[in-house]
Amino acid sequence: ATPSITVFPTRKVSKINRNIYSGFTEHMGRCIYGGIYDPLNSNRDLVDSEGFRKDVIDALKPLDIPVFRYPGGNFCATYHWLDGIGPRDQRPSRPDLAWDNVETNQFGTDEFMAWCRAVNAEPYLCLNFGTGTLDEAMAWVEYCNGTKDTYYANLRRKHGHPEPYNVKYWALGNEMWGPWQVNQMTQEAYAERALQWAKALKLLDPTIQLVLCGKEGATTWDYYTLKHCLQPAGLSDLGEERVPLIDMHSIHLYTASDDHYENVTAPLAAERSIEVCASLIDLAMVENKIPPTQKRPTICFDEWNVWLPTRAVGSQGAEETYTLSDALAVAVWLNVLVRQSKDVGMACIAQSVNVISPLMTTEKGIIRQTTWWPYELFCRFMKGHQVAVHLECESYTGPTRPDWVRALKATPWLDVSAALDDEGWVSVCVVNIHAEHDLKTTLKGLQASKAEVYTVTGANLRVTNMAGKEEVGLQKSDWDLSKTSTFVFPRSSITMLRWKSS
Ligand code: AHR
Repeated sequence: ATPSITVFPTRKVSKINRNIYSGFTEHMGRCIYGGIYDPLNSNRDLVDSEGFRKDVIDALKPLDIPVFRYPGGNFCATYHWLDGIGPRDQRPSRPDLAWDNVETNQFGTDEFMAWCRAVNAEPYLCLNFGTGTLDEAMAWVEYCNGTKDTYYANLRRKHGHPEPYNVKYWALGNEMWGPWQVNQMTQEAYAERALQWAKALKLLDPTIQLVLCGKEGATTWDYYTLKHCLQPAGLSDLGEERVPLIDMHSIHLYTASDDHYENVTAPLAAERSIEVCASLIDLAMVENKIPPTQKRPTICFDEWNVWLPTRAVGSQGAEETYTLSDALAVAVWLNVLVRQSKDVGMACIAQSVNVISPLMTTEKGIIRQTTWWPYELFCRFMKGHQVAVHLECESYTGPTRPDWVRALKATPWLDVSAALDDEGWVSVCVVNIHAEHDLKTTLKGLQASKAEVYTVTGANLRVTNMAGKEEVGLQKSDWDLSKTSTFVFPRSSITMLRWKSS
């Protein structure tokens, strides 16, 4: 049967938090050094007076990326933020145990804040739960946000930053369950520590938002840590209502396969993780008798992407070369985040420059990888509210990875999400995962005479943009709806249709 897509622009399903298009910059490989900070580049035109890559800022800024997470990742389990502030020639070099590197600390908190200002984004800092102490964590919050006459707030002022940075988002560690983590913890040890740290940090600055370290969303670690740490806000000794301690629950997942269909259906595992995790949040709230008036924590999917570590081995820190198949997988990932926007308060593509990234730098300039294009399209257009879509389409029935994806989630050949922005533009993203067939599809619910069409595709699934020419780019065209209501979605393509609702 001919597939059909019916869009209901007036049926808003959930608000899309723009923070789902956030980024991640870790001290790993060439993400910071040589990526966003490159003061020794011989081409002086590429670098600004602060040593930042101008071409990277010029590429990222128009995307209006709301938040960047920093400084890791695994890196933060041995990171001491005090090493990275003050005069550069006095900053110590330290062993980086996460990525077997030497960290020179030439780029630290003040540089990251300046870079966030340059790209017009908010910072999100991850605390050291490995070798770090609560004292050190509180000092970092005070350094960034303190307004009083106190030691670390004054240290920031002394370094030339009189105004507080007002860092809102703070993570209570990263992947503390992982055997690769310095000071890996049991769920019990982590949850108790996170709860105590959260209490102290919120006493210091009740305006911050704290992110609990979850796992993949549908695990006993997620269940236990949520159950232990989501608590009724209660009253202070002075009788004031306290703010909740935990605002978000972080989960991570990377998907990838050299098999195209496994690659493009794997992000649906993330959709299932979000669904289960949202239920675990509800369960913890019920079990802990948290009143429904208290703000319900959202999911912070602060590491997601297509990444096959075995494929990137030997590169300078996970420098993946992305194919057209990977671009389709990233578009499915983004569709998932939009479809699940009711529960996702933030998501960070991991990462933003050079390391498993859509954007690469060379000595001479930048390369937009295949995966850049879906990311750009979503950042530009998929905002406002998610709206209802009804899809009728046959499904792919072959193997998936994880193998349960097909059993739990249908995997139609077309993967779809839709949004209505505040200016009345409807955007529909359709990914045709079929490697061989263009899919002629009936479109219903488009109350407009013409639509803008943005297409991302390429000669075959293996093409990349890293071999010196752009094999996958973005084509724009118009669709005259007075002539036909059927649209042909090319095989292996991402299409974004946009029209102004009447
Ligand atoms: O993004 C790369 C790494 O993947 C991060 O440092 C870590 O948190 C995850 O395992």
